[in-house]
Amino acid sequence: MTSMTQEQFQDALNARVSTIEKVLVSALPKNITKQKTIADAMEYSLMAGGKRLRPMLMLEVYRLFGGSDEAEIEPFMAAIEMIHTYSLVHDDLPAMDNDEYRRGRYGEDMGILAGDALLNYAYETAVEGALKLKDPANGLKALQILSRKAGVYGMVGGQVVDVELTGKPISEEQLDFIYRYKTSALLEASLMAGAALAGAAEEEIAQIECVGRLVGLAFQIQDDILDLTSTAEELGKPIGSDLRNEKTTYVSLYGMREAEEAVEEYSKEAVEILENLSEENEFLDQLIVSLIHRKK
Ligand code: FPP
Ligand code: MG
Repeated sequence: MTSMTQEQFQDALNARVSTIEKVLVSALPKNITKQKTIADAMEYSLMAGGKRLRPMLMLEVYRLFGGSDEAEIEPFMAAIEMIHTYSLVHDDLPAMDNDEYRRGRYGEDMGILAGDALLNYAYETAVEGALKLKDPANGLKALQILSRKAGVYGMVGGQVVDVELTGKPISEEQLDFIYRYKTSALLEASLMAGAALAGAAEEEIAQIECVGRLVGLAFQIQDDILDLTSTAEELGKPIGSDLRNEKTTYVSLYGMREAEEAVEEYSKEAVEILENLSEENEFLDQLIVSLIHRKK
């Protein structure tokens, strides 16, 4: 499948993370005076590290479908990372997972407000970006995707069921729903928006949605595995959160071995669809494969 060495892949990955972080810094709100605390909290949580997977996937899919003007996609890359960051900040709040704030050091009140502000600012940023596109209809399509997948039909919907069923026994079907919406929806949005911005056709966007779904499932199952097997230092967030919160996970429902197999299977299936879809993007294939063995 791919001829990129591990070292070349790692260098390419690091280069992309640093490009994305520059995009994020320049997208943050400027000239804030009286409400400076919120601007600081937004910056702190957005710039507190992370794999930058969602904007990275968006950019690679944009390239895969022939997109070449990267300035056009940058506001959307910033927007998806802001939405992702808001979700982490709110998920860590005492009313939800009650984890040590991965991305918020400003107290509960500012945690709520920084999350709200990031979510809103994501759309402010993406709308500005859409208005500047050569073909604003592509931007509108990307906005439709982002807003739907982040909301009640997407991530928020999944989180609602996750919160409601915490501490209760859940079925395979319920777990599938939670993962599909809580985690896959935003990964689907990343890939689909990249395709839409490159002007991909509806059928192509639908196929890339399947890729996102598979990557999301693999990603969330790996998240469950790491919550049990990693260390807080390596992961950059507290481990054992699922046990503490009495959460049913893929691992608790199916066992560790099946969980590991599922991660591998879903990831491989995702790469197969991608390879049939378009010109090869070696980095993208390798990025998805690397998630199988990810340690953080
Ligand atoms: C880790 O991403 C995130 C997940 C595995 C998704 C979990 C889903 C939620 C927290 C949904 C919350 C929703 C609401 C509405 C509050 P990552 O490993 O890419 O994180 P990183 O950016 O730190 O690398
Ligand atoms: Mg949670």
